[in-house]
Amino acid sequence: MNKVASSFQTRGFHLHRDGLPGNKCSEKIEVVLYYQIYYNGNRLRECVIWFTFSRTTEKKLFFTKEQERWCWTLEKLVIHGQKRLRGEVTVSGAKNAAVAILPAAILSDNNCIIENIPDILDISILKNILTNLGAKVEHMNGTSIKVDSSNTISYTATDKQIGKLRASYYLMGALLGRFKKAIVTFPGGCDFGVRPIDQHIKGFEALGAKVEIEHGRVIITAHKLIGAPIYLDVVSVGATINIMLAAVKAEGITTIENPAKEPHIVDLANFLNAMGADIKGAGTDIIKIRGVRELKGGHTYTIIPDQIEAGTFMIAAAATRGDVLVKNIIPKHMESLTAKLQEMNVRVDEFDDSIRVSCKDKIQKVNIKTLPYPGFPTDLQPPITALLCRAEGTSIVTEGVWDNRFQYVDELKRMGANIRVEGRMAVIDGAARLTGAPIRALDLRAGAAMVIAGLMARGETVVSNIEYIDRGYEKLEEKLKALGADIQRIQE
Ligand code: EPU
Repeated sequence: MNKVASSFQTRGFHLHRDGLPGNKCSEKIEVVLYYQIYYNGNRLRECVIWFTFSRTTEKKLFFTKEQERWCWTLEKLVIHGQKRLRGEVTVSGAKNAAVAILPAAILSDNNCIIENIPDILDISILKNILTNLGAKVEHMNGTSIKVDSSNTISYTATDKQIGKLRASYYLMGALLGRFKKAIVTFPGGCDFGVRPIDQHIKGFEALGAKVEIEHGRVIITAHKLIGAPIYLDVVSVGATINIMLAAVKAEGITTIENPAKEPHIVDLANFLNAMGADIKGAGTDIIKIRGVRELKGGHTYTIIPDQIEAGTFMIAAAATRGDVLVKNIIPKHMESLTAKLQEMNVRVDEFDDSIRVSCKDKIQKVNIKTLPYPGFPTDLQPPITALLCRAEGTSIVTEGVWDNRFQYVDELKRMGANIRVEGRMAVIDGAARLTGAPIRALDLRAGAAMVIAGLMARGETVVSNIEYIDRGYEKLEEKLKALGADIQRIQE
């Protein structure tokens, strides 16, 4: 008989004294209930529930509600490959823009509505983090969220979930910009080798802040933030965004030279300007920020479409010799991928806000090097490497952004891929024929590569660790299924 077992454990009671602006204090008691359910000896579900009780200034203790619920199941994707994808797919809002714009919203002590928010796990986590800081985050209809930061917001963001979410580092810039003080858990995130934050720190210090790292927290304090010229030693998306967030209300002018130019940098600048900021040059070689006294609320802003999700579908269409119209995209953002697909002999037709990708013939080998925008995006490196497993000839993919972003290649090898990795370079022999196998998503984009490999392979592929995929792709398997893929989500 199948055995189902569960274990319950309270994670104890925690008393928090959170520093709030204006030297007010609040006390919070958290009761954390943690449980696991096992099925036949396998962990099926792990769940953490936080119940929070707060003591207000009136010294009354009351149950504020179950504030966070964070569950994940051991789900898998089962793919039966070699089905051509056909039809239309609509791309969701950009994850990497949304994870910067949500924290940016707390720079104003007013409210705003943000539209085209993707329904992904990273956003759910970020919404919880903002709620726990004191913001009201309310779902409107469809994909819109209202963020109201008029309540007292804490500058201490040391939530347990923060360490898991790389983008939580934007709280450093946003809280510093609003309160001249921020205490934030040191950021975690996907493992692609060393992920330093020295350029973020250099930027904050140039603006006059003191930065200390103690007990796994980054503590940033400033008497005053004063605009300054900042030259980034490496092109960093995160540092560019964090400096913009911290400088937007600083006194005087800040310039960022050698900034990242990704579409989400421009999107964040547009969002901040819509709140009354004065940022010029986002997307160019120099960003100029003239500090303003306050940021207004009351406006509605729509996030750009997700460049990487769009690219993933374009690659999946080519991988399955399909014919797919990828809708709700900005074709300009896709230029580096479009050029490479065309070089591979894939047909790409651009329209105003959509791109059609069709592929009847064999694809040709190409060499690719990932670079900051407008170069080929590192986040499409794993998916395109999977596609190159069926190219005629030998392709070379060079990773120009991260130290160690080929760990997933061993998973492709289980499917028969013939790839040799030498440092930051992968040599892919397209003669190999992929066959289905049990494989793991090692991170978000590696997960997308596993799905693409499964769509190409003969037989059944089972992808595990799909929480990574859910962090950044909205309803990936539903969208693929609608295009004709044979893909199912199963519980282990
Ligand atoms: N770097 C430094 N010092 C710093 C910051 C970065 O040396 O202070 C180096 C990094 O080690 C890396 C390079 O600069 O070699 C680029 O890092 P960057 O700061 O641009 O990356 P990030 O901001 O941490 C964002 C995206 C990543 C994407 C990279 C590169 C978000 C939340 N994450 O990360 O997206 O790979 O830019 O484009 O926007 C993903 O979406 O799956 C993802 C990982």
